[in-house]
Amino acid sequence: MNVLGISGTPRKNGNSHILLEHSLAPFRESGWDVTILGLHDLTVQPCKACDHCRSYNGKCIIEDDMGLFYDAFRRCHALIVSTPVYYRNVSAQLKAVFDRHYAVTPEQPLRGKPGGAIAVGAGQGGGQAMTVAIVHNWFSSCGALTVPGELNGVSAVAQAEGDILKQEKRLKQARILGENVLQVAVKLNSEQVGPPDAEKWQGEIREGLTSPSALPPRG
Ligand SMILES: Cc1cc2nc3c(=O)[nH]c(=O)nc-3n(C[C@H](O)[C@H](O)[C@H](O)COP(=O)(O)O)c2cc1C
Repeated sequence: MNVLGISGTPRKNGNSHILLEHSLAPFRESGWDVTILGLHDLTVQPCKACDHCRSYNGKCIIEDDMGLFYDAFRRCHALIVSTPVYYRNVSAQLKAVFDRHYAVTPEQPLRGKPGGAIAVGAGQGGGQAMTVAIVHNWFSSCGALTVPGELNGVSAVAQAEGDILKQEKRLKQARILGENVLQVAVKLNSEQVGPPDAEKWQGEIREGLTSPSALPPRG
């Protein structure tokens, strides 16, 4: 089983990256493979809207590190996305990844996979909640399933690199987010999830309607 962590900060030791690591700890402890793709050392250019992908079976014309994301989308069973808050939005680096998913939209590699979101901004009420919602919207657009942490996604206030390490509560909330995503992923992958077998289901209904317990009591 594989979990994908996408780190949207361009800073190597960004606070959002640290929270992402904490959220992934429960997966490591459960023996999952953990793939982290960090936008501090990967380059993903913005989508050109050329629609080359529509004519060439999902192949994007841009040759850069996005190929790693396409592979990881296909391989993962769950994902967690972390981002700094930039102008009450995700980082431009992360938005490029979101948009480049366009090439594989018909394939829907993230469909039905559970995901969690983390946003770190410098200000109180600096747009963290909105940024978490933007990540959740991307999940919905990709067919992925939003999983909350303690309350919603993780929202945190921090500025200098590493500041978040002093905030026990936020580190714990990141871990809870990871635990929740892990729990949903395990459940989804241990059950046959899909449309019910219509014939079997209708047969059961017919049987139920004619069985003695389904009839009204006499008298
Ligand atoms: C271009 C830019 C825009 C920013 N916009 C916001 C903002 O809208 N709200 C906020 O609270 N913080 C804002 N910040 C501060 C960062 O979100 C903050 O430094 C955060 O710690 C960055 O996350 P990181 O440590 O994971 O890189 C901005 C920083 C930059 C560089």
